[in-house]
Amino acid sequence: MSDTVDPAGDDLADAGALIEAHRSMPGAMLPLLHAIQGRLGWMPARLVPEIAEALGRSRAEVQGVLDFYPDFRRAPPGRHLVQICMAESCRAMGSEALEAQARASLGLDLHETSADRALTLEPVYCLGNCACSPAIRVDDEIHGRMDPAAFDALIRTLRGGEAGA
Ligand code: FES
Repeated sequence: MSDTVDPAGDDLADAGALIEAHRSMPGAMLPLLHAIQGRLGWMPARLVPEIAEALGRSRAEVQGVLDFYPDFRRAPPGRHLVQICMAESCRAMGSEALEAQARASLGLDLHETSADRALTLEPVYCLGNCACSPAIRVDDEIHGRMDPAAFDALIRTLRGGEAGA
């Protein structure tokens, strides 16, 4: 994992406080990594040595956990996070076609962010909206029964909002 940008000083201070808060907690590795990503929106690789030292683990162990879970972002996400549910119910209802449509229309692979940093595309595994599969989440809002045309319309609205901001 290598950072493509440097975390801001405030973010480093926040991460440092989280590391201290988790230092003596049993089984703190995953909760700490999630807490840092929850606060910063991503998990800067430059924090690995500090986390390893605080938890009494090797850098390789921390890095191994980060590498194992693709949910840990290696760079800050775009201003809008577009997540397509790829879990069972949504797959059965066409999320693979939706994912293909999203990749094509956004020009992004999963886990990529657009060059203008407006959008990040990610998979997600069940949004708790299985009855309305296939589902996606855009930022904090879940959209059910999504199809490629509705997806494109949603993205146009997002981009229109960006242009008007
Ligand atoms: S499987 Fe997609 S919302 Fe549950």
